[in-house]
Amino acid sequence: MELDTIDRIIDEYDGEDGILIQVLQDVQAEYNWLPKEALERVCERLGIPLTQAYSVASFYKAFSLVPRGRHIANVCMGTACHVRGAPRILEKVEDVLGIKACETTQDRRFSLERVNCLGCCALGPVMVIDGEAHGKLAVSGVEGILDGYE
Ligand code: FES
Repeated sequence: MELDTIDRIIDEYDGEDGILIQVLQDVQAEYNWLPKEALERVCERLGIPLTQAYSVASFYKAFSLVPRGRHIANVCMGTACHVRGAPRILEKVEDVLGIKACETTQDRRFSLERVNCLGCCALGPVMVIDGEAHGKLAVSGVEGILDGYE
């Protein structure tokens, strides 16, 4: 891990106070997760205990303490999507990627999550990849969609 990268991120805040969350967001944007070495460096530079960084990182769902894929696929399992076949969509995604929900592929290409309602129920069943919604999904279309993400 390049600790210079962490230093550069922190330096951009120019000694401001109360920047822990912003710094963690930037580190997460850089690596897609929060590696331990990065957290140690952040805490050393900000003069705060490591436990503080861990408690913030575990509190916010946007942060990940385990490696994540380059792409994040969220399959909606909310009621509206569920009745329109979401379980079969999830099964197909798991099958194509070779992982279960909450896991990341070996090559770090995808992380797979199940979520409860993405707020676009009329499009169900829905899967959102990197913020892009794919609606009215059919099992037969899943593989083609995933193939679109290198
Ligand atoms: S239940 Fe799936 S988007 Fe609302």
